[in-house]
Amino acid sequence: MDISKIPIKNRKDEHIYLVSTEDVESHETTWFEHIRFVHKPIPELSLDDIDLACEFLGKQISAPVFIGAMTGGTELTKKLNVSLAKAAQKYQIPMMVGSQRVILRHPETKDTFSAVRESAPDIPIIGNLGIAQIASSESFDYVNEIVENINADALAIHLNVIQELIQPEGDKTFSGVLEKLKLLKEQIDIPIVIKETGCGISKEIASQLGEIGINIIDVSGIGGTSWVAVEYYRAKKENMKLKQELGKLFWDWGIPTAASIFEVSSVAKNNPRMEIIGSGGIRDGIDVAKALRIGAHFTALARPFLMVALQGQSEIEQFIEKTFKELEITMLLTGCKNIDDLKRVPIIITSKLKEWLIQRKIAF
Ligand SMILES: Cc1cc2nc3c(=O)[nH]c(=O)nc-3n(C[C@H](O)[C@H](O)[C@H](O)COP(=O)(O)O)c2cc1C
Repeated sequence: MDISKIPIKNRKDEHIYLVSTEDVESHETTWFEHIRFVHKPIPELSLDDIDLACEFLGKQISAPVFIGAMTGGTELTKKLNVSLAKAAQKYQIPMMVGSQRVILRHPETKDTFSAVRESAPDIPIIGNLGIAQIASSESFDYVNEIVENINADALAIHLNVIQELIQPEGDKTFSGVLEKLKLLKEQIDIPIVIKETGCGISKEIASQLGEIGINIIDVSGIGGTSWVAVEYYRAKKENMKLKQELGKLFWDWGIPTAASIFEVSSVAKNNPRMEIIGSGGIRDGIDVAKALRIGAHFTALARPFLMVALQGQSEIEQFIEKTFKELEITMLLTGCKNIDDLKRVPIIITSKLKEWLIQRKIAF
């Protein structure tokens, strides 16, 4: 798909265009480079012995790798959603859809999301709304429509305060959020996932979420796609000087993904029901292995899946196979037969990540 030839119809298409054509990665890294596995030259295993399978929301999945939340709402994104969903179904991995808020104002866009469930009947699919929507709602009757739209297994609520603040038309009210989340939790009968969108989640927030019974947290830390960067490019196009300056200043704001996984994992140690999705800058199977080793139960990749989806169906499939292979090789080289083994292998933590953990009093 040649993105430069596709008409940009609204903000979502514009985001897809900018994310795939501009340099939108954060300058700060994930800090996974400060973690090293200890190589095991005699693993006593064959590649065929490695088993990546695990369970999410009561469904068996082939590997702890999700397609991150991105798209829906337009013709272009329907195509991308269908391609990604077909691949997710083929490889039996979960998929998160992009924000479904658009459905509330434009019900005619429903099929751009429901096509995901039609193409992927068996896998866990996670719906999506933003925190600004939740914060401004007096009641949550509309949420059933969002959930039924894709027969969602869980509903993700994304935290994107910084993006809203930089975004030319963004929301500015974020008080009373925990109370609203508590109400929402009482009104829906599927689990809620709280996810960031590139700035990470701390142990303090994870524990507040645990207290209101929200137990699935997608950290989405720094090190991958920077939404401030995306909004910077939009502000630049509109010639909005202040927003551009804010965009430059806050480009790398937040908690690097590896530190954020450690943060949330320190809370999950005392809450066995808590499950962590490690995301934000996960780019290959070694990143996946490191995220799982330091406490994530699953991982999610967003922009890498967009880039291959724009190329075509077989490119998505090759990317999934490559990521699985990289994870399997990492597991073989550390002597792990399955994901549980991987959680116990020795690692060395150095530099800034070690300093962060010491200052934050997080055991490692
Ligand atoms: C094109 C694009 C659109 C996105 N749209 C959403 C969205 O609608 N809802 C959401 O929760 N996150 C959205 N995200 C954020 C991702 O889910 C993810 O948290 C973030 O991009 C970091 O992951 P990455 O570094 O693997 O891209 C989007 C990301 C991309 C690349």
